[in-house]
Amino acid sequence: MDIKNADFTSIFNVASLQNRHLVDLHWFTLAICVLIAFVVTGLLIAVIAKFRTPENDDGSEPRQIQGNIRLEIIWTAIPLLIVTVLGVLTAIVMLVVNPPVGNKQPDVVVIGHQWWWEYRYPKLGVTTANEFYLPVGKNTLFEFRSADVVHSFWVIAFGQKMDAIPGHPTNMWVHPIKTGKFLGTCSEYCGAQHGLMRIIANVVPQEEFDTWIEKQRAVPEQPTDPAAVRGKELFNSATCVECHRVAGNEDAQALIGPDLTHIAQRETLGTGVLANNTENLKKWMQNPQTFKPGVNMPKMRLTDEEAQDIAVYLESLK
Ligand code: CUA
Repeated sequence: MDIKNADFTSIFNVASLQNRHLVDLHWFTLAICVLIAFVVTGLLIAVIAKFRTPENDDGSEPRQIQGNIRLEIIWTAIPLLIVTVLGVLTAIVMLVVNPPVGNKQPDVVVIGHQWWWEYRYPKLGVTTANEFYLPVGKNTLFEFRSADVVHSFWVIAFGQKMDAIPGHPTNMWVHPIKTGKFLGTCSEYCGAQHGLMRIIANVVPQEEFDTWIEKQRAVPEQPTDPAAVRGKELFNSATCVECHRVAGNEDAQALIGPDLTHIAQRETLGTGVLANNTENLKKWMQNPQTFKPGVNMPKMRLTDEEAQDIAVYLESLK
């Protein structure tokens, strides 16, 4: 997986219009804070220098300024003004970043599961898992749901986090402004493998997005390679089909685990845990607990040959 060129380092590597507004507000707030720090520190130093005890100090009290109306008004008005400006700007940014959704239909529905992500594009009839695509330059409405506990969706360069709460859908707008691979992670503790509940967001030009959608909608060809044919039979007779769906394979229509229709197109396995290749897939099936202790996928008790055949079948699902 080309994770080296992926961005997961900083919210300041701004990849969405929404994050642009958030980061701009951040810098503005920081500038005011720095200004206050300079003014206060400067005044403090000036006062220390000017009013230090003179050598011939007679111990008498200096002139008192208690009850100075003008000073009282100034040091009440300035903080009030700063807090008001920041409050109004924050409210404006919140409205711009999260405008009311009304009854708009989401473009992407993200469902948090222990410990993977399901992505549905209801308008386009696509369901996939763990890695998803967005077109650049288009405001996309997300809806978040959870199949079990509270998760939180956070692609770092998109700025915002949003909780996925069981029984209470939430929304977020993302308007990507640059192409690339942006990484994220679940950011609400959700159990043993919270730390390995990774997100891979691919932002691509519209044409590339359309091609990806086309590929996702296509039903994969039936296997012809003998190993893949054997693999499919094993896959259908083992417990795999109790949890997984593969379009075009009538025995595999369960929606408990990730949809495997186009698993061969993905870069990673186990939600970003392993690079996706036949060898790793085989190891993963034989003992997923080694790579992700607590994962809901059971150890499959497959012989080497069986695991190999199923892996060949799954890797044929392009
Ligand atoms: Cu899902 Cu933390």
